[in-house]
Amino acid sequence: MTNEVFEQLTHHRSIRDFENQALNPSQVTQLIDAAQHASTSTFSQQYSIISVTDANILKQISKITGHSWMLNAGHYFVMVADQYRNLKIAEQNHTDPYILHSTDKFLASVFDVAIATENIMVAAESMGLGGTIMGSILNNPQKMIELLNLPEMTFPLLGIALGYPKDKPELKPRLPKAEMHFENQYNLGANFGQKLAEYNHLISLYYQSRSTNDRSETFSHHIVSELSRDHNLRSDLFAIIQAQGFMTH
Ligand SMILES: Cc1cc2nc3c(=O)[nH]c(=O)nc-3n(C[C@H](O)[C@H](O)[C@H](O)COP(=O)(O)O)c2cc1C
Repeated sequence: MTNEVFEQLTHHRSIRDFENQALNPSQVTQLIDAAQHASTSTFSQQYSIISVTDANILKQISKITGHSWMLNAGHYFVMVADQYRNLKIAEQNHTDPYILHSTDKFLASVFDVAIATENIMVAAESMGLGGTIMGSILNNPQKMIELLNLPEMTFPLLGIALGYPKDKPELKPRLPKAEMHFENQYNLGANFGQKLAEYNHLISLYYQSRSTNDRSETFSHHIVSELSRDHNLRSDLFAIIQAQGFMTH
């Protein structure tokens, strides 16, 4: 069985090189529409989207993320966890907002952002666009909060750079299904070592075959190098999330 949606989903690749062409306002509206119709935890719609169009703010975000290529994107969204709007509703209705400050509600905001983000990516790809989700705004969330004038009970989680793809990178192979899809109970199989070696080989072939930025790397190398990052990087995240009013309990 196959269909257009399945084909598109299984051929996703992040795009980091764009034609010099902005998205038009109706495309942006359609993408917001796609985000808004995503499932949302307890129908609380606890996220907001900021379209960043100011060149100076974009430049600052590119510095925070270390991604200069985002300046060539045709549009840039920041996806914000948002319980501020619901806090205002609680205030208007003289209701105790205690629950809005819980870990449960912060997680709900994170889920809402993640699901809406993927809806934007999928909708964009269906329109012939491409892009990259950017967690690297978390390199400096405090600066993001200031740049975007974010109030209490909001937190910037992800950027999305979108545009007309200039290149078509090779498809990045994913883990063997037996090592990530289990039946009834978690079971990283007895063959994990051998399957991982095969996957490592596949990934090293993928990196060698890349037309740009080719390098010799396996999945295991990749995970190890992720863990070799400076331990102080992003170590202030929890404190900033709490300072915004989230996860007090
Ligand atoms: C939550 C999240 C954050 C990400 N952050 C970044 C980022 O900051 N910079 C970047 O270049 N790619 C980022 N990516 C893209 C991943 O690197 C990419 O999805 C992954 O390498 C798989 O490649 P593919 O999307 O081309 O299949 C992010 C993806 C996700 C889901």
